[in-house]
Amino acid sequence: MFGAIKALRRNGVIGINERNIRYVNALNARRSLVTVDDKCITKQLAQDFDIPTPDLYGVVRDARDMKKLPEMIAHPDGFVVKPAQGSQGKGIIVIDSPLKHGWRLSSGRRIDLGAMQFQINNILSGMYSLGGQPDKALIEYRVKFDDVFGKISFKGVPDIRVIVLKGIPVFAMLRLPTAASDGKANLHRGGVGVGVDIATGETRQAMQYDALIEVHPDTAHPLEGIHTPYWDEILMMAARSYEMTGLGYVGVDIVLDRDKGPLLLELNARPGISIQIANRRGLRFVLEKAMVLGDEKHSAEKRIEIARTLAFDQEIEIAS
Ligand SMILES: Nc1ncnc2c1ncn2[C@@H]1O[C@H](COP(=O)(O)OP(=O)(O)O)[C@@H](O)[C@H]1O
Ligand SMILES: [Mg+2]
Repeated sequence: MFGAIKALRRNGVIGINERNIRYVNALNARRSLVTVDDKCITKQLAQDFDIPTPDLYGVVRDARDMKKLPEMIAHPDGFVVKPAQGSQGKGIIVIDSPLKHGWRLSSGRRIDLGAMQFQINNILSGMYSLGGQPDKALIEYRVKFDDVFGKISFKGVPDIRVIVLKGIPVFAMLRLPTAASDGKANLHRGGVGVGVDIATGETRQAMQYDALIEVHPDTAHPLEGIHTPYWDEILMMAARSYEMTGLGYVGVDIVLDRDKGPLLLELNARPGISIQIANRRGLRFVLEKAMVLGDEKHSAEKRIEIARTLAFDQEIEIAS
């Protein structure tokens, strides 16, 4: 693992301090953070910008809302309970289907109403929120993932993370749930990260727990060379997060629903840096180029054009 990181340094890998000082702090105005640190607000804003997100079934804020929970969760296809201010997949329950008594989770485990209410109370108390402040629980549509990812996903929905600088999508990674990650695709929970070529949407190398791997740890299916469907739409959604939030450096999480196509799951103002390991290349080169080329006056189409050129340039740079 350290050998891999050393080799990556030569390719311009950035660390957390550099990410914070040079990109997050410099490009993300404090007042804009509210739009992404609360998933209810992000959903609302996305709607204003005609960017599709999973349907919201309800929000639980207090004991009064909790009484309405049975109506909010009466969905035969399951649903998802999520802290509005959570991160890294913490506190999320992905419900697959109702059972005679209780529900089946995506991971195969069972949960009853009491345990679900207990979990929601934990969310409300702020157990999963950023600063530990009281939070809300969102109840939303459970995404039915596109079949293309069927063989490389284990009991949960994969997502696509795109890093966007000044509205230019610069790096992408497909994240896959594993037995360890309990229905969620987050890397901190043991999800697999697969580098994705920005220009084509093809998967490249993969990693789990920051170590390189070639096949999915549970399904043993090879991870390289898979084409991500709706790639153009995904790039457009990622690029438009700039107009939507005004944030100059953002991680966009997108899921592919087999009926509804790409849906915006959430936005992150401090996206993680492991995406560099999944792509086996550092972010610095492309971020610095995007810093210079990015311009508020550019349309989203123009920014995607720049993104494709940068991806191409980068291939040349690494090879030389
Ligand atoms: N509506 C949903 N349907 C199915 N899976 C979901 C849904 N929302 C979240 N997940 C799973 O949980 C993971 C984390 O969700 P996300 O909304 O990005 O929250 P966090 O801020 O904790 O990362 C996703 O990558 C996905 O695997
Ligand atoms: Mg996320």
